Amino acid sequence: MLAVVLSLRASKPLRPQRTIILVSTDQRLIETAGEALRRSVDYRLVVCDDARQAKGRLQQIEAHLLISDHMDLGHMNSGHMMSGGSGSGEERADLLVDARVSHPRVPRLLIASPEAAEAGARAAKAAAAYLFLIKPIVPAQLEIAIKRALELDELSRRHRILSRELRISMDDDMFDSGEKLSVKGGVSQFEKLVYASPKMAELVAEAKQAAATELPVLIHGETGTGKELLARAIHFNSSRMNSPLHVQNCGGMNEETLHSELFGHVRGGFTGAVADRLGLFRAADGGTVFLDEISEVSRNFQVSLLRFLQEGEVKPLGSDKIFHSNVRVVAASNRSLEEMVERGEFRRDLYYRLKGFALSIPPLRERPEDIPVLAEFFLEKYAGVVGRRVIGITKGALDALSAYAFPGNVRELETEVQRMVAVADQGGYVSERHLSAAVREAVPSSTNATGHRAIEGANLKEMVESLERTVVREALTRTRWNQSQAATELGLSRVGLANKIKRYNLQAE
Ligand SMILES: Nc1ncnc2c1ncn2[C@@H]1O[C@H](COP(=O)(O)OP(=O)(O)OP(=O)(O)O)[C@@H](O)[C@H]1O
Ligand SMILES: [Mg+2]
Repeated sequence: MLAVVLSLRASKPLRPQRTIILVSTDQRLIETAGEALRRSVDYRLVVCDDARQAKGRLQQIEAHLLISDHMDLGHMNSGHMMSGGSGSGEERADLLVDARVSHPRVPRLLIASPEAAEAGARAAKAAAAYLFLIKPIVPAQLEIAIKRALELDELSRRHRILSRELRISMDDDMFDSGEKLSVKGGVSQFEKLVYASPKMAELVAEAKQAAATELPVLIHGETGTGKELLARAIHFNSSRMNSPLHVQNCGGMNEETLHSELFGHVRGGFTGAVADRLGLFRAADGGTVFLDEISEVSRNFQVSLLRFLQEGEVKPLGSDKIFHSNVRVVAASNRSLEEMVERGEFRRDLYYRLKGFALSIPPLRERPEDIPVLAEFFLEKYAGVVGRRVIGITKGALDALSAYAFPGNVRELETEVQRMVAVADQGGYVSERHLSAAVREAVPSSTNATGHRAIEGANLKEMVESLERTVVREALTRTRWNQSQAATELGLSRVGLANKIKRYNLQAE
């Protein structure tokens, strides 16, 4: 007998149904469960014959409760058994223990016959079961047990959300809300840093140390890794948190405009300067200025900035007056300033000034442990905790996301989840079928080592080359032809990768 799916829907449910997996071949127990749930439209009962089938089901569907009927071999011959049933008590005990690891959030309920009570109790303990019941069970009893177990599931879900918020706010207020002042043109917003990886934990620890000082901070990280978010966290966790934080992007700006934005100007100071402008350095007195894309500033600007860092001097354009302002500078770059210094493209003295503390945010592909927590965080963000559009994300979707390299880092993951929420069914789960093509296509290549790739060639040399060509092409597609990134992933030098591209005549599509 294959799994039986009993859908107990008298009418359209207001809430999405919750799925209960029951592993049993005891017809009486199956009927009791059916009876217990008959009056409610909120539940779907999936009956499995044995542990193997139940494991398969757990992978395929989002279960909310796992009930296992523990049997010992003696009990296999009992009168209530359906013919064809298989699976020893041991297998079922293993199922619950495995589920404890693979699906820790699904509560486990164990039922045993009086003869198997002792073995059942041991199994319940090993599996950290929520409840252990002895047959005969009556419907009302099972109904209450199921309700409580599902409440537990919901409570622990809320607890997870709250403790994440709490962990966020307890982490020395690293994630304090930015209500206290408006940043970026009056938008009051302060995103929260979410992480689970040791690498990020280490970085946050360093950031806390940095925040406690008055030193300038230099943040390095690829695009979308959270540089601005970290800069904000540092400001809001520093003694300057009640003073302004101003953000200035230094990329793509001519020298004069940038100078005037930061140092201000006097009327007529340059063409088009029709009124005096204070400049962010003076406006942020007592606070912090975040200079994004610092690698892009001109030589002249580097000189003015150095003077500001050394003396706190602000000389507005067109003015001969010098003002003083006490500002902490946090700068960020996705290019390596160190390499730029080596190449003579960035002033060494300014570089050393800026990196009072140097923080480097690892790319997301180097901390895949953060992907599930971030995905769930963004899911909550876009689905909204109240009146949610979707109720969760499947393990399959999380696995697929975790296997993807995310060249655009956290920003790309955020956009991906936002998209998935938007296309998912109202009240349903976000699953693999909602993934974007980029993620879906990249998954097999990163999860199957070589197994599913077509290898061509008449001899070993040709076959190895065919495989090499495929692996290199896949890495390039995955990283959208970001050659330094692809080279890093493949463990090649950039020149080595360029040689392979040439040799295999690879071209971006
Ligand atoms: N650890 C994190 N937890 C929660 N959200 C994050 C995290 N890291 C990044 N984000 C989110 O990802 C997006 C990109 O972050 P941010 O703008 O800080 O990156 P960035 O490094 O400054 O990017 P760019 O180099 O493109 O300017 C933002 O929406 C931010 O809130
Ligand atoms: Mg940024």
